[in-house]
Amino acid sequence: MLTAARTGKCARPTTLHPPPSTLNDPPLMPDLIIIGGGPGGYVAAIRAAQLKKTVTIIEKEPLLGGTCLRVGCIPSKALLESSHMFELAQHTMAARGVVIGKLTLDLATMLQHKESVVRTLGSGIDGLMKKNKITRVFGTAKVTAPGRVSVEGKDGIQEITGEHILIATGSVPASLPGIEMDGDRIGTSTEALCYPEVPKHLIVIGAGFIGIELGTVWRRLGAQVTVLEYLDRILPGMDNEIAAEAKKIFEKQGLEFRLGCKVTGAKVAKKVCEVTIDGGEVIKADRVLVAVGRKANSQNLGLENVGVQLDKRGFIVVDKHMLTTAPGILAVGDVVGGAMLAHKAEEEGVAAVEHLYTGYGHVNYDAIPGVVYTEPEIATVGFTEETLIQQGRKYRKGSFPFLANGRARAAGTMDGKVKILADADTDRVLGVHIIGTHAGELIAECTAAIQFGASSEDLARTCHAHPTLAEAIKEAALAVDGRVLHM
Ligand code: NAI
Repeated sequence: MLTAARTGKCARPTTLHPPPSTLNDPPLMPDLIIIGGGPGGYVAAIRAAQLKKTVTIIEKEPLLGGTCLRVGCIPSKALLESSHMFELAQHTMAARGVVIGKLTLDLATMLQHKESVVRTLGSGIDGLMKKNKITRVFGTAKVTAPGRVSVEGKDGIQEITGEHILIATGSVPASLPGIEMDGDRIGTSTEALCYPEVPKHLIVIGAGFIGIELGTVWRRLGAQVTVLEYLDRILPGMDNEIAAEAKKIFEKQGLEFRLGCKVTGAKVAKKVCEVTIDGGEVIKADRVLVAVGRKANSQNLGLENVGVQLDKRGFIVVDKHMLTTAPGILAVGDVVGGAMLAHKAEEEGVAAVEHLYTGYGHVNYDAIPGVVYTEPEIATVGFTEETLIQQGRKYRKGSFPFLANGRARAAGTMDGKVKILADADTDRVLGVHIIGTHAGELIAECTAAIQFGASSEDLARTCHAHPTLAEAIKEAALAVDGRVLHM
């Protein structure tokens, strides 16, 4: 098998499973046609099949799973885990008495492991499609009329008719004017998931989720990483206090940030990347990761043929039941805007299908967690403190540092804290923001609390096992009422 490190080029994800042929005989006439096989589309397909509907899912890539599985959440998490191990072995383990001889990085094997995780999960989704008797079509779909889709595949074009169409085509990386992407040295997260060697100097444009996660991967593996960010803060949208603490920790780890720094151009000349920032300064690096957001993948789908309305930024306009402005056509996931998160797309996929076929189904957008998978992780759910202030809402706040948590001390991971925001009158939990090891797992309890309309008192009175990191949630909840025990 070819990996990036062996070919010297950024390698695209592969698949071992040749997808099924495009042409079907007899022609397909399912209840539901789904365009896009990412988390929004394939999960909606399963739910519709569970509701006894016939479903055809159309995907243009050989591997189902969408951006998340092929070039997003999953491969980046494989690299984050592996690079974390490398960093622990290099800097932390000896102090705990685990002494490793000469440590070397085998990047080819690390990339191969990432690929095999992607392939295994991809074939798992194929298995789920078979189990649920969902027809999978490999090709590029276009809506030609209400209830009618044409699919261009390797064997030609076929028409599929169905009662409803659900669009789940996701998003694609955005770029900036003046940036000349060459798909290798200057590229997006797709390239940054498979650099063939560790860059000496990597410039990351944009301090959002993608820039921080992938910048962290390559810093851990030995690159000098400079993050250029237009705003005066990192992680836009996150609670300010938590983002500021994250910045300090990442700087201590070696990430270099330049805030208030607007990139106006980037190009490659003789393998050297030159990034220009407002004011004319040019910074050189051997690779550039452009992570300035993603845009809706709503073009070339034939939506104009059927009256599906897009907003100014190209997102498909939907109502609360994920119905578009065209009869019989629904849309979910990144393509409708909002948080660009796999689990948000899944929730919308399930809700859309359940509402369509049962009359019930909705998404609670106040209880959708977000996680940045760095070390420490950053996890958040509900309102930030800034949003509550903007809304003029009265709140109480409690926080608790991992420094005072026994399990964190034992593990040597004392960075970070839990911060809980609760309504000043009702005590209902409005937001929880955690920076700390395993924050992405800890946030599940807080998401459930918000989903169930719990109060901070409910969290504070819930028995938490000792010693666990989750005790910091109980303590932060106690702190809301000034009753913290271990501080
Ligand atoms: P983002 O929107 O989160 O961050 C982009 C950053 O680029 C912003 O801070 C913006 O101010 C900055 N920027 C824009 N123009 C600039 C310029 N000219 N010069 C310098 N900086 C500039 O987008 P990102 O990180 O690309 O992520 C895309 C989406 O994918 C997000 O919605 C994110 O939530 C999602 N995602 C989620 C992950 C997770 O759940 N762990 C992981 C990766 C992505």
